[in-house]
Amino acid sequence: MALFRNRKGLLRLTVVLLILAAFIVAGVIWLPVLGIEQPQGSGDWLNPYSPVGQQIATLYDVVYYIAVGVFVIVEGLLFYAIYRYRFRPGRERLIVPQVHGNTTLEITWTAIPALIVAGLVVLTFNTMTDIHDGPGNGPTSLNPAHRDQHAVAATLMGQAPAGALRVEAIGHQWWWEFRYPELGITTATMMHVPAGRAIEVFTTSKDVIHSWWVPQMTGKLDSVPGVMNATWFLAPAEAAIGQNIYHAQCAEFCGEQHAIMQFRVQVDTPEDFERWARQQVQPAPAINAELATRGQTLFATKGCVGCHALAGYPAQALAEAGLPPTAADPAPGKIGPDLTHVYSRPLIAGGALSLPLDNAQEARENMARWLRNPQEVKPGNLMASAIKPGVLTEEQVQALTEYLLTLR
Ligand code: CUA
Repeated sequence: MALFRNRKGLLRLTVVLLILAAFIVAGVIWLPVLGIEQPQGSGDWLNPYSPVGQQIATLYDVVYYIAVGVFVIVEGLLFYAIYRYRFRPGRERLIVPQVHGNTTLEITWTAIPALIVAGLVVLTFNTMTDIHDGPGNGPTSLNPAHRDQHAVAATLMGQAPAGALRVEAIGHQWWWEFRYPELGITTATMMHVPAGRAIEVFTTSKDVIHSWWVPQMTGKLDSVPGVMNATWFLAPAEAAIGQNIYHAQCAEFCGEQHAIMQFRVQVDTPEDFERWARQQVQPAPAINAELATRGQTLFATKGCVGCHALAGYPAQALAEAGLPPTAADPAPGKIGPDLTHVYSRPLIAGGALSLPLDNAQEARENMARWLRNPQEVKPGNLMASAIKPGVLTEEQVQALTEYLLTLR
C-alpha cells in the first residue's frame, strides 16, 4: 500500500489510530473518573436504577473490559508488526521467511477465544437465571394471581416476587398503552410505578412486533401480537427521588416512526402513586367554559370518539352529534390512546410532542399543532389518515385544544 511506502504515511496512520484508541480508552477509564455520567432518567442503561438493571450493567462491564483487553492486545501486536516489518530503502527485494502452519499458535488462538466465549456464556446464563428468579425468590414466589398467565408467557419471563403489581404494556404503531387491570386504569405513554414494589410487566402488541425497554430499569422484552411476554422489575426507593422520570423506548424497528415510539416510566413514592391511581380512575370532569364545551361537542362530531376512549364523555354530546347513545359514556374508541386524563401526561403522540404541565401556553401550542396537522408532526401516524390539514378549522382546533386541556 502506498500509505506504507514512506515514513510520513505510516506516521499519519499511526496518529489516526492512536487518536481512535485514545477515545476508546478515555471512554472506558476517564469519563467515570471525571464524573461525566448520564444523569438519572436519561435512559442510560450503564447507570441503572434497579437491581435487574444493575445486574445487566455489571454483565456488560465484564464483557466490555474483556473486549478492551482483547482490543489492546490485538492492536498492539498489529502495530508492532507494522512497525517492525515496515518498508525500508534497500529492502525492496527482501522476502521474509515463508511459514506455513504453526500448531502451537493455532491451538492457542483457537483455545483462548473459545475459553473467553465459554466464560461469557456461563456469566450470561447466571445473570439470566438471577433475573428470572427474582431477588432471592424461586419460581414458587410467582404472584399466585398471575400464575396462569405466566404459564403461557412464551419466552424468558420474570418470576416477580409475590405482591407484585401487574402492568400490561401494549405496543401500537407508534405509542404504548399501559393497563393496570387490578386498578382499573388505562393510560398511554406514561407508565407510573410505585417505588419499592415489584412490577410485573406483561407485554403484547396490537399490530407488529415492538420491544418494551426501560434501559435504567430492566432489559428489553419483545411485544409480539397474539403472545403475552412477561418480565418484572423493581424501582428502589431512591429511584423516586430527584428526577424520577425515566426515558424509555421501543427497541424493535417497527415502521417509520419507530424512533418516536417512546414512553416514560415515572417512579412515584407509594403515596404519590396512590394519589395518581385514585385520580386516574375518575371520569373526566364536567366542564363549563364555553370554548371547551364547543370542543367537547367537536370530539363527537369530528369523529374523535371513534378512536379514543374517554371515560365520562357525556351521552348528551353524542346524541347532539347524532351518534347512538350506547356508544357513549365512556366513549368506546380503542384505536388511539385513552384520553380521559390526557393532560395528566407530559407527552402526547408517543413522545413526539410534550405538554409541559406547568406551562399552559406551551401545552396549548403543542396540542393545537398536533390537531392541526398530525402528519407534519409525525409522518405516517394513524391519526393523520383521518385528520388531514383543513379537516379542522383553526377555531375548531382551538376549541378541541381547550377541551383536551381540561382533561387532567
Ligand atoms: Cu415499536 Cu419500534
